[in-house]
Amino acid sequence: MKILIIGSGGREHALAWKLLQSSRIELVYIAPGNGGTATNQRLRNVLISDPKMLAEFALQENIDFTIVGPEGPLEAGIVNLFRAHGLKIFGPSKEAAQLESSKDFAKRFMKRHQIPTADYETFSEVKKAHKYIDTKGAPIVVKADGLAAGKGVVVAMSLEEAHAAVDMMLADNKFGDAGARVVIEEFLQGEEASFIVMVDGDHVLPLASSQDHKRLFDKDRGPNTGGMGAYSPAPIITPEIHARVMREIIMPTVHGMHADGIRYTGFLYAGLMINSQGNIKTLEFNCRMGDPETQVIMARLKGDFSKVVEHAISGTLNQVELDWDDRYALGVVLAAHGYPDIPRRGDLITKIPPETINCITFHSGTEYADGKLSVASGRVLCIVGLGKTIKGAQSAAYATVNQINFDGIQYRRDIGYRAMAHKSSSEQGK
Ligand code: AMP
Ligand code: GLY
Repeated sequence: MKILIIGSGGREHALAWKLLQSSRIELVYIAPGNGGTATNQRLRNVLISDPKMLAEFALQENIDFTIVGPEGPLEAGIVNLFRAHGLKIFGPSKEAAQLESSKDFAKRFMKRHQIPTADYETFSEVKKAHKYIDTKGAPIVVKADGLAAGKGVVVAMSLEEAHAAVDMMLADNKFGDAGARVVIEEFLQGEEASFIVMVDGDHVLPLASSQDHKRLFDKDRGPNTGGMGAYSPAPIITPEIHARVMREIIMPTVHGMHADGIRYTGFLYAGLMINSQGNIKTLEFNCRMGDPETQVIMARLKGDFSKVVEHAISGTLNQVELDWDDRYALGVVLAAHGYPDIPRRGDLITKIPPETINCITFHSGTEYADGKLSVASGRVLCIVGLGKTIKGAQSAAYATVNQINFDGIQYRRDIGYRAMAHKSSSEQGK
């Protein structure tokens, strides 16, 4: 079989790595891929980004199916286009992807279908937005409506910060069209978790739970990033919470989309906030897998993932049972100098230790040229350790992290600290 994966990050590298474990797979093309996917014989980078040209490529190469990694091509309607050409592809249609591409769409959807989420209002007028903030007070959260590469959310602890966020998005147009409307919502407290499922239009197959660390610095301080590390499973997702998330959030979302005339297919990622009383609210939806969540989830998945995706594309996910490695997986992201603002490119990366049974290195922003590996964008590598306890997984990951270097390297030293506070995971294994 020949597979096409669209995207260039660690998520796509991890999906490809997993697919390659199947003897059915001859070749995985990645468009455009990265320095890690460039150096594997059964992986091939394809330097095409235009959706129409990608569809032509898939037809020419007799690609068996395509998986879409990032949100951009989904918003642009790549799934609609591939389907129109009779090509098999796993992902949501442009219409379904609005759950991620418009925060206002997602919030209205959740309100209409009684899916628990923070109270909110949407604004396109600067004055009204400022007035609303003054009425509600701080802390308060200001979100650009459209896709803003993970930078469109300001969690404002003071009124000044909230007003400044509105000015930046609505008045100064920092995000262009994506910030022409803002959602202003209630600040929620608690612990976050990522709940990712596969949906085939009718059936839902939950993947292993995970949590990521969004802040740049240790102890969850500093600016928000796309994710500085992750682990799976997330101890906060107990069997009881799992059942409630499926009942209160995931199933109502898939059924609600149906009721609104949209058949949801693809990965669906609910970002959750769970407070100390056990209340669960939806912070956001993503219409794709998370990065770096994918790296830790794929590291634990057993069996032939290509068969799972085939079932997902043919609408028979109800026939699939997933089998997971019962170890913890913990991933540490190594980021470039200047990330998350303006990452510096070109720094040379030292030799990366080979994969072992308890540690895998996934590439994100790397480039391979003239026999050298260098930094190409903000999040550079994700080192995933596996262990019987979260601490064991952490030690395995950092043992490799300590052997890798490049100028300006930034990474957190405390990935997994929250999970360790949950007694069951740190002391007794799973
Ligand atoms: P989002 O892209 O909507 O998930 O927001 C990015 C991050 O901002 C989330 O992962 C949270 O850490 C934080 N965040 C978003 N919405 C809220 C909220 N209502 N209350 C507190 N933090 C939030
Ligand atoms: N790690 C968060 C995301 O992929 O959106």
